[in-house]
Amino acid sequence: MQRFTDQVIIVSGAAAGIGKATALRIASEGGKVVCTDIQAEAVETTAKEICGAGGEAIGLVCDVSDPSAVAGTMEVTLAEFGQLDALCNIAGILHFDNTLDLSLEKWNLILKVNLTGTFLMCQAALPLLLDGGGSIVNMASTAGLAGHPWTAAYSASKGGVLAFTSTLAVEYGKQGVRANAVCPGSVKTAMHDQFVLPEGADVKLLQRIMPLDTFRGPETAAALVAFLASEDAAHINGEKVRVDGGTLA
Ligand SMILES: NC(=O)c1ccc[n+]([C@@H]2O[C@H](COP(=O)([O-])OP(=O)(O)OC[C@H]3O[C@@H](n4cnc5c(N)ncnc54)[C@H](O)[C@@H]3O)[C@@H](O)[C@H]2O)c1
Repeated sequence: MQRFTDQVIIVSGAAAGIGKATALRIASEGGKVVCTDIQAEAVETTAKEICGAGGEAIGLVCDVSDPSAVAGTMEVTLAEFGQLDALCNIAGILHFDNTLDLSLEKWNLILKVNLTGTFLMCQAALPLLLDGGGSIVNMASTAGLAGHPWTAAYSASKGGVLAFTSTLAVEYGKQGVRANAVCPGSVKTAMHDQFVLPEGADVKLLQRIMPLDTFRGPETAAALVAFLASEDAAHINGEKVRVDGGTLA
């Protein structure tokens, strides 16, 4: 399958996990990938892996919550490749806290990266995507669809991403830009390997939304992101698709 031949795709969060798997998947299908992340070395490694396998990619440091870094990413993309065909907003952060203990500082940080960062990337990319049509895939979560304990800010940010994606779909669909959201659950990445539950957390509350036997690798979510970004999904706009092994079925 070579669904991205002659196409240019920006992937945020491309240093690790689902973002890296997405960058590798799209590159393996012929796409030129602008890999972005706050982790300079690791994002460069992703780009080098792609080039080493015969693909085309560049690595850029970009904090999605920083408007000037986001604008810079679009400028470099245009300068290097002259076009943009798809934007995959995968970057995100997660913290577990009892809602009663969640500081305003942490609430604001999670909203700033996950929700505002997604907005900033989409707003900056839209003029490029509108020029010839394109696709946006935003990373939400099952946490935006059903109750997840101890994730007040994270869940609110992902619910916001879902609503924002629907807005984009209606506002720009007729002008040739589709926007869809992916809702993973139980994907084995650093985000899941490194999370720390609040003290005294009743882990039984997690079993409903994160059963251990459903965990899969990041390539499972990347495959869905690639599908939605591609022309295979040409008639899909404003959709939210779960990739959670059926947990919320
Ligand atoms: N792993 C799961 O089970 C799961 C479930 C639902 C949703 N998600 C979502 O998938 C996305 C990727 O998560 P993952 O599991 O691959 O986690 P991960 O921690 O492996 O990867 C996240 C990446 O985002 C980058 N990042 C963090 N803050 C950033 C910023 N301000 N600007 C740019 N990049 C930044 C990190 O450096 C990292 O490379 C996230 O949006 C996450 O919320 C993951």
